[in-house]
Amino acid sequence: PETGCLSIIVLGASGDLAKKKTFPALFNLYRQGFLQLNEVHIFGYARTKISDDELKNRIRGYLSSGNEGAVDVSKFLQLIKYVSGSYDAAEGFLALDKAITEHETSRNSSEGLSRRLFYLALPPSVYPQVCKMIKNYCTNKSDLGGWTRIVVEKPFGKDLASAEELSSQIGELFDEPQIYRIDHYLGKELVQNLLVLRFANRFFLPLWNRDNIDNVQIVFREDFGTEGRGGYFDEYGIIRDIIQNHLLQVLCLVAMEKPVSLKPEYIRDEKVKVLQSVVPIKDEEVVLGQYEGYRDDPTVPDNSNTPTFATMVLRIHNERWEGVPFILKAGKALNSRKAEIRVQFKDVPGDIFKCQKQGRNEFVIRLQPSEAIYMKLTVKQPGLDMSTAQSELDLSYRQRYQGVVIPEAYERLILDTIRGDQQHFVRRDELKAAWEIFTPLLHRIDNGEFKPIAYKPGSRGPVEADELLEKAGYVQTHGY
Ligand code: BG6
Repeated sequence: PETGCLSIIVLGASGDLAKKKTFPALFNLYRQGFLQLNEVHIFGYARTKISDDELKNRIRGYLSSGNEGAVDVSKFLQLIKYVSGSYDAAEGFLALDKAITEHETSRNSSEGLSRRLFYLALPPSVYPQVCKMIKNYCTNKSDLGGWTRIVVEKPFGKDLASAEELSSQIGELFDEPQIYRIDHYLGKELVQNLLVLRFANRFFLPLWNRDNIDNVQIVFREDFGTEGRGGYFDEYGIIRDIIQNHLLQVLCLVAMEKPVSLKPEYIRDEKVKVLQSVVPIKDEEVVLGQYEGYRDDPTVPDNSNTPTFATMVLRIHNERWEGVPFILKAGKALNSRKAEIRVQFKDVPGDIFKCQKQGRNEFVIRLQPSEAIYMKLTVKQPGLDMSTAQSELDLSYRQRYQGVVIPEAYERLILDTIRGDQQHFVRRDELKAAWEIFTPLLHRIDNGEFKPIAYKPGSRGPVEADELLEKAGYVQTHGY
């Protein structure tokens, strides 16, 4: 592992993302010994003029300390220093650089090596100017080397053109290996398991194709609406918020070919190929919804056309997947909170048990809640006759890995940024290919050519979505 001084700079330190995700993830890494006290310093930067202590008080409530944690929390908070300044003036960034340099020079162990990680917990509109400031005033200057890395979060633009513009602006300042675009779904345990499941198991290798798989569903449901985030959400909608990034990344991992090795570039190369093979989405294979009451939010316009629900079929034009619908479905204010991948196999040819009506084989990966991997299959009902039933081979993480704490996505991803591993981050060409898929549809929605169907909060979403699923070939399985 690298040694030397590590400075983690959280820009937008007083904002929601920093409080709820970034600092808690850093705290958990600290508790597990990944951030060594003498080597690491954390800097918060934001416009708000507050003291170090005020920032710490704001963060403290979000750090879950477990049983014996109070000491840990205050030790962790000692690592944090706050610097206030604007996002577009040199002054603040010069002060920030001074604080970082002081930390670096005070560490004997660092031997001049300087590692600077800038985490932009900020709205994307300020990314370019903030990156410029970092580049001009805060990059590491140590003679002995080190690095400067930038971590950004979605939304990366609103369509192909705006995303490309943002990428070019940042790309002029930093090289691709310095830029970490977070999609937190890539940090989830079961998303990371997909490569292992697919490529380390003989079971799946011969079956994972159009000859055997009838359809694939990738589903995200939330049982709450956009409360408190209506302003942000209305500008983006469910396709930009969830489908274009989180679900599409999962689709890539389900559909990609085996990479040459686990080298991040090889993995990302294969993902890009999947994205480039997706054919234009057909209007008749899209159902949009908006939950009743969404527009009651004062930050949402009364005539908003923004979808809070979408189901659509993506089709991949290649040898492995031609003809297999990938159904992506995401919705807010539905009847449950769940994210899962459901791979449905074709019927058994020449079925002698007449059991087809009970359901098909399915391979299900539940990302959350209660991580699980299970297979639905047909078995003989225990007893004297030969009747059949659907049952499950079930790997429920809670049972199988009792007592094992599954790391938070952000924790894992921040550790990767420190280690310099870009495997679980979105590369620029990947981002571009992702926007290419959705931009035509998004423009039609933005122009009001495509209207969402109203659905009741707490329901399954519009019935038209279930009809689309059936039309795409999904057969509902019946319980065991
Ligand atoms: C975020 C979206 O990226 O992911 C939110 O902006 C959504 O709208 C969230 O609620 C879901 O994340 P998770 O990890 O709870 O599934």
